[in-house]
Amino acid sequence: MRYCIKGGEIVDPAGGFVGVGDLLIEDGKVIGVGSELPVENCQIADASGKMVFPGLIDLHTHLREPGREDEETIASGSKAAVKGGFTGIACMANTDPVIDNAPLIEFIKKQAQLADFAKVYPVGAVTKGLKGQELAEMGAMAAAGAVAFSDDGKAITNTAVFREALEYSTQFGLPILLHEEDPNLAGDGVMHEGYWSTVLGLPGTPSIAEEVMIARDILLAEYTGAKVHFSHLSTAGGVRLLREAKQRGLKVSTEVTPHHFTLSDELIQSYNPVYRVSPPLRSASDLIALREGLQDDTIDAIATDHAPHSFEEKHREFSLAPTGMIGLETALAVAWTELVLKGVLTKERLIMKLSVKPAEILGISGGSLKNGDLADVVIFDPNREWTVTKEDLVSKSKNSPFINMKLMGKVEQVWVNGILKYAIDK
Ligand code: DOR
Repeated sequence: MRYCIKGGEIVDPAGGFVGVGDLLIEDGKVIGVGSELPVENCQIADASGKMVFPGLIDLHTHLREPGREDEETIASGSKAAVKGGFTGIACMANTDPVIDNAPLIEFIKKQAQLADFAKVYPVGAVTKGLKGQELAEMGAMAAAGAVAFSDDGKAITNTAVFREALEYSTQFGLPILLHEEDPNLAGDGVMHEGYWSTVLGLPGTPSIAEEVMIARDILLAEYTGAKVHFSHLSTAGGVRLLREAKQRGLKVSTEVTPHHFTLSDELIQSYNPVYRVSPPLRSASDLIALREGLQDDTIDAIATDHAPHSFEEKHREFSLAPTGMIGLETALAVAWTELVLKGVLTKERLIMKLSVKPAEILGISGGSLKNGDLADVVIFDPNREWTVTKEDLVSKSKNSPFINMKLMGKVEQVWVNGILKYAIDK
């Protein structure tokens, strides 16, 4: 099938084209970008007044399969992904069983192929069973197609094991994605430790629990030369540490989630368990620091940490609810509304952080619409206002903190490898 996406504002910072034009797609690839392109035998997609950009890539999705298919499956999560404009997602290893061996990497790839929505890139565990004691089969997983390693959900506290993992990972050139939270300092905290935890009488997780781990791991990244990526950065101190590390020339990278740069711990006054997440929602001043980190490129990427939970388990007292929020279907509109419309990032820089940089960090194709590139493409209407509703979400779980919120910007059509995978009901 040959498509011509006509008259949209193409935003392709990596490919070097930003401006109104047409995009031709054939046999899964981009075959022309510009104006006056030959449109014979093309199916035309009218994009006038809309934006056209490379498919977004999520560095951080939990798909829950195998083990908790009641919460999400590879099929339902990758369908939610394309609806949100993500044509590629990296899925975390904290499933049941844990993705710590090659057959499970193969399983994820196979299920993703059968589902046939977004591309799914499996992340293998760093340690067996996420127990932090013994390295998982990193080599076999790399050979089977893992794009990165992570014990996400848990920090790797044994520094010797972590050093070994870093050194080993350099053989494959794959990044290690880090969940930074010292469990002893975090204790039994259920929210950010600060003014609101004191007022509400809930045990807090201090910022320093994240920052001591980041400081340790910056040192180890430098020492081993491994590719280290800091997941879901949440504190002002973490931003400062990474800014300094980058100023010293270290090749570390980091991401922030839409919930961490938009929602603060004050919301927990409602005791609504939807706001329980790890790392926790931080203070208003942390939010400002995270936005500054995005602005000065200390923070490379925006990732969802899409973490589906069942209604029964999530709807409990705040302290007993599991941590996590879904985000695939709202991330782009939240970032558009909160960052682009408020002047924090230009649209080009938003696409850098949602598409170009994630592809670079994972070492995968994508993030560009030059001639010959794979046709992973999004049409986005920046002027469409919508309200997030439970009914509208296709993820199996509905634990979104953005439900009932009005957002600007809606994904209209999405192609993966040149095949139309999503089109909005007008
Ligand atoms: O809130 C979170 N939930 N943070 C994580 O790092 C893990 C995730 C999950 O798996 O539910």
